[in-house]
Order: sequence, then C-alpha cells, then structure tokens
Amino acid sequence: MKKIFIAFLSFTATLVVHAQNKEIVLETKNSALVYVMKDNQKVYQAYLGQKLNQSSEYLKAGGPQKEAYIGAGMEDFFEPAIRVVHADGNPSLDLRVSDQKINKEGNITTASITLKDPQYPTQVVLHFKSFFNEDVIKTWTEIRNGEKGTITLYNYASSMLHFSAPNYWLSQFDGDYMTEMRMKESKLTTGIKTLDSKLGSRAHMYRTPVFYLSLGNLSTEKNGELIAGTLGWSGNFQSSFEIDQSNNLRVINGVNPYASDYKLAAGQTFVTPEFIFTHTLNGKGQATRNLHDWARNYGVLDGMKPRMTLLNNWEATHMDFNQDILVELFDGAKKLGVDLFLLDDGWFGNKYPRDADKTALGDWQTDQKKLPSGIGYLVKQAETKGLKFGIWLEPEMISPKSELYEKHPDWILKLPNRDESLSRHQLVLDLVNPKVQDFVFKVVDDLMKENPNIAFIKWDCNRPMTNTYSPYLKANQSNTYVDYTRSLYKVLERLRAKYPHLPIMLCAGGGGRTDYGALKYFTEFWPSDNTDGFERVFIQWGYLNFFPALTVSSHITSMGKQSIKFRTDVAMMGKMGYDIKVNKMTNEEIEFSNQAVKTYKKLSDVIWFGDLYRLISPYEEPRAVLMYADKNKNRAVVFNYILNYRRKEYLGKVKLDGLDANKQYKIEEVNLMPGTKSALAENGKVYSGDFLMKVGLNLAPGKVQAVSSSVIELIAQ
Ligand code: DGJ
Repeated sequence: MKKIFIAFLSFTATLVVHAQNKEIVLETKNSALVYVMKDNQKVYQAYLGQKLNQSSEYLKAGGPQKEAYIGAGMEDFFEPAIRVVHADGNPSLDLRVSDQKINKEGNITTASITLKDPQYPTQVVLHFKSFFNEDVIKTWTEIRNGEKGTITLYNYASSMLHFSAPNYWLSQFDGDYMTEMRMKESKLTTGIKTLDSKLGSRAHMYRTPVFYLSLGNLSTEKNGELIAGTLGWSGNFQSSFEIDQSNNLRVINGVNPYASDYKLAAGQTFVTPEFIFTHTLNGKGQATRNLHDWARNYGVLDGMKPRMTLLNNWEATHMDFNQDILVELFDGAKKLGVDLFLLDDGWFGNKYPRDADKTALGDWQTDQKKLPSGIGYLVKQAETKGLKFGIWLEPEMISPKSELYEKHPDWILKLPNRDESLSRHQLVLDLVNPKVQDFVFKVVDDLMKENPNIAFIKWDCNRPMTNTYSPYLKANQSNTYVDYTRSLYKVLERLRAKYPHLPIMLCAGGGGRTDYGALKYFTEFWPSDNTDGFERVFIQWGYLNFFPALTVSSHITSMGKQSIKFRTDVAMMGKMGYDIKVNKMTNEEIEFSNQAVKTYKKLSDVIWFGDLYRLISPYEEPRAVLMYADKNKNRAVVFNYILNYRRKEYLGKVKLDGLDANKQYKIEEVNLMPGTKSALAENGKVYSGDFLMKVGLNLAPGKVQAVSSSVIELIAQ
C-alpha cells in the first residue's frame, strides 16, 4: 500500500496516511456518515444524511466540509470539540491525520481516525461504531497524553457533528423532581444553545441527555429529517448547538466541561463517554424505533430478555413496617399475581435505625427490631408464596447519623472550610476513593452472598452533588465530577462480572439518572416518583421517545385520583408493576388487577420487543394514543388515554400504524373492568391492516369521559 510519509522539522514522530483510502464511509441501512482526509492532512466531515446508492457520490454532495474534531487555539472561531493546554503551557491543538481504520463485521462497522499534533505527542482517536440494521451510530474519543508532563483538558467532546440546513429545531426533554421529561421544542437561532447538567450524582434530575434535532422543518412523528441523540453518561453532560454566521450548525456532545478541567498525567488516556445517534428522513417515530432496536440489541443489559412484574412497598408503607407487615404484603402480591415483591427503603440500621430519611445510609445491616429473622427469612417466606424477592439499596450515599460516618468521616465529598451540605439529610460518598469503591461493591456482594436468592435490586441515588470536593483526589479536584461517574461504572463493572444477569432497577429519586451509560449495567429505570396516572402519561411518553418500554418501570399506585383501570392502562404502556396497598383495594379492583397482570403477561412481548408508534400526542390533543406492533406484524396493542374532554369536542378516528396492509386483524378490547363491555364499535370484528391504517378506529365511542382509557389488542387472522 502506498503511504505518504511527512516529516516535520521539530517533530520526531512520522505521520502515515493511506493515500488511496482517504475517505471513511460509515453506512447503515439508510444513512451515512462520511469523513475525508485532505492534502493538509486534516480530516473533514463530508456528509451526514441519507445513504446514497453510489458511495462515490458522497463527496459531490456539496455543503461546507468542516473539520471533524476541532481543537481550540488555532484558526477556528467557534466552540471547539477539544481544548488542551500542553505540559509546556501551549493552549492550542492542531490535529492532523496519522492513521485510520475501518472494519466491518456483520451488523457492526467500527472505524477510527487517529489524529496527532505535529508539534506535540498528543494523540486524539475518533472512534465510530455503526449498527447497520438499527441505523444507529455511536461515537467517542480517546485522548492520549504522550507528553512528559501532565496536560489539562478543558473541553473533551465525545462527538462533534456538522449540519447545513435552512432551519434547525431542537426538541429537549427536561423538568424537575416529579415533572420529568417535559418536551419543549424551539427553533435554534444564531449563537449557542446549551443543554446541560451540573448536578453530578443525580445528574439528570432537571434534564435527560436526549434530544431530537430536526433539519429544515420541525419533524412530525412520520415525516421530517432529524437526528435523535443521547449521551451515555450518568454524570454532568453538555450538548451544545451553535449556528454560525453562514447558518451552519455544529453540535457538540460530551461530558460537561464545567468545573472539570481534567488533569491527564503523562502516558494516560482519557476515554470519553459514547454519543449515540440515529439519522432518519422519516420523522421522530422512526428515530425512536431505531434507538429502541439498538437499545434492546446492544445498549441495555439483557435488552432482549423478559422482565418481572412486581409489587413494591414504598408508597404503601414508606419506612413504617415490620416483618409481619411485610409478610402480609406478600399476600397482596400473590393476590395481584405478580412475580416479585420488592422491599424498599427502611430495612436497615441498628444503632441508628432507618425509621425516617435522616439516618442509617451506609449501615447496610438488617434492622433487628423491624426484621428480627433477617432478610433470608423474608426471601424464604416470599418463596413459599411463589414470589421472588427484591431489595432496595442506596449504596453511594451516607447519613451523617450512621455508624459508617462515625468510622469514616473522611469518606464523604466535602469542601475544606465549608459546612457539610445536606440534601435529604444525606451526603455523597467519595466514590473516587478505591476503599469506598470496595465498600460499595461489598455492600451488594455481601447481601447477595448471604441471600443468594435475592432476585432483584433497586439501586437508588437520592441527591445531587454539592460541596463537590474529593478528599481522596487531593490536588486534582477538577477531576472529581468525571472520576465519580467513572468510579460508579468501575463498581458496576465488578458487580456485573460477578452477577451478570441480576435484574437491577436504576433509580435516582425518580428519573434523576437515565442514560445509556448506566443502562449497560441496569435492566430498567424508575422514571419518576410522580405516579399519578395522568402525569405518568406524559412522563412515560417522554421517556419512551428514547428508551424502550421494557426499561421504563411503570407502577400502579394510589397517587392519582383516577380509576384503577386508567392507572393500570397507563402502567401497561411500559414495564408494569405495583406500589399500592392491596388491602385497601376493593374485591373488584383486585379481581381486575389480577386479570390485568395476566393480560399484561400475554401482551408484554409485543410491548417490550415490538415497534412503538405514537399516534396522537398529548402535547397536541387532550388525549394520548400509542401502539406497539410486533416485528412480524402479527400482533399489536393500542393504548388510548382520553385525558380531558369538553362537551362536543371533536375527537376524530385514529389511524393505526405499523400493520401489514395485506393482513386481516381481529380487534379486541382487553383489560376491561369485570362485568363491563367494550363500547368500541369495531370490537370483535376483523379489518384489514390497510383499512386500519387509512381509515382508523373511533377510539372515543359512546359517552366520552375525561380521564378514561382503553387497551385494544389486534391479532392477525
Ligand atoms: C426515591 C425513590 O424514587 C422512591 O421510589 C423510593 O425508593 C425512595 N427513594 C426511598 O427512599
């Protein structure tokens, strides 16, 4: 292979470029990302869009070719992907191609472009992984310090992407505790729009690292060019969208550089988190389906395996329970017919029992008074009732009133000369300290060793970081935010090596930690402490844009004033469970719920592994309608929620989607209250997929009621 060798006067290394292979073309089923190396040895993004029939035409596509990963301090005037100050104080980075690789194996193509600074032995490797069938691309970056001294990274993006379109629309998803994932859409204008988090541990409490970026017009569910993007990082993140003077857009995603100038010692390599995105011409619905497919196949632990239904005791008892009360609750779980009982917060602590949220985090020993026979007894009792048993932990946290704190007051994040800053009366452990990592690992490991039949864990994290200072890190304080998240991953890595398939729910006081960095280790997440059925329609709708249904824990509780049917129908669109006082339910409610669990089990493979189609958005009409269709288009489930209704308000027929036009489907309303009949005119009848997708169903038949719902199953005949 012909190679070009370029020698630089003051640079000992040699840059090597494979001359006849100057393009990197990453193609998926429908899209392409193309880079080109030019004679100046720089690499440019040449194309990002729909796949072309002839790959030779990508370079003819026109549009501005922008440097792929722009270093600060050289000729560029906008937000850099990377800003480095070298060991000698030079604040610039000039990145030239030194090597590139591409390798296709089955569904996955991996590519890397190695860039070097001609004057400094700093190396940047841009990594790409494309997933052909899912139309998803993952990008991340490695920064290697080949210098003799420490360099400082001020910006270190996972990805930089360039766009050129007449208009750009951003859909973001944010909120707060109890109001997670509210969608907001706006047109971008010149300047920078930043979506970020500075909360550290409970990093996504105000905002989830996900977005849609529509190119041209604002995309609808079925139409429009867009990318859907998400950063796999459970700490502070930053997405920036900058339109320049020529209406070009650069999108940078990565760790939030805020208070995080990273000191990279000689010889060390910094690996950024992964930015995951999909490009489509077919609207947000297609973008969601692409991400869901990718997530189930590659992004989520055991993404193609079934999940368990469960009864949690948090909303029923909070921390006010004892052994007998719990065993009684098992009977409730049995009545509902769920698979597992999940014991929540309040089971631990002896010197400082966990009777309220002021004590005991860190003292993970069973409370002898509440549970004199121990966890093992509960596991057994559950098993005799045909139930599995799961347990809650919040291993990253510590209560000042705990034995752990008395033993290790230096194990917390805390600024010198500042008071401890409490949130929910607790502090964050200094997880960067390897001893703390060992402790956290041991908490879970000991529990599992003592009770090998524990079948589920809920891993909570109820506060963000303040007072962020790691006593362990000493001089390198600005590494704390990044190293905390990495330390969390290290612990999870160790746990997964030993317990590869134990289902673990990720929770952070609700959806305070929801990202694909964490979901490599978790099987589902808790979207919100707001379990009001009405609110949950919006919250789950939000998460389902980016995360598949089997990861979105959706529990039926007593929080809302809606009927048990409405609350159950809402939970069914995700991963259904309960958190309810079964002994306060009427016989009719129990009978309904027991049947609902059976119905859910029958439908769940369509919900978990099928394709999601959002038919009517609650942001556009006073109702929400969505459906799942299995991959063979043989079965589908429609979820229909009427949220509000005013006299004579027009609610038109709803056209279904994702069916086979040539198949005949039998329509059956399921999950009805005992003794009630479906009001659906089409119930029990057979219609072609063609009809259902072109004409649709009247999902507001008869006397329409606000806050009512229906679930409709379609089976191909
Ligand atoms: C916050 C979680 O979101 C709740 O479900 C519950 O587990 C509490 N923490 C327990 O403290």
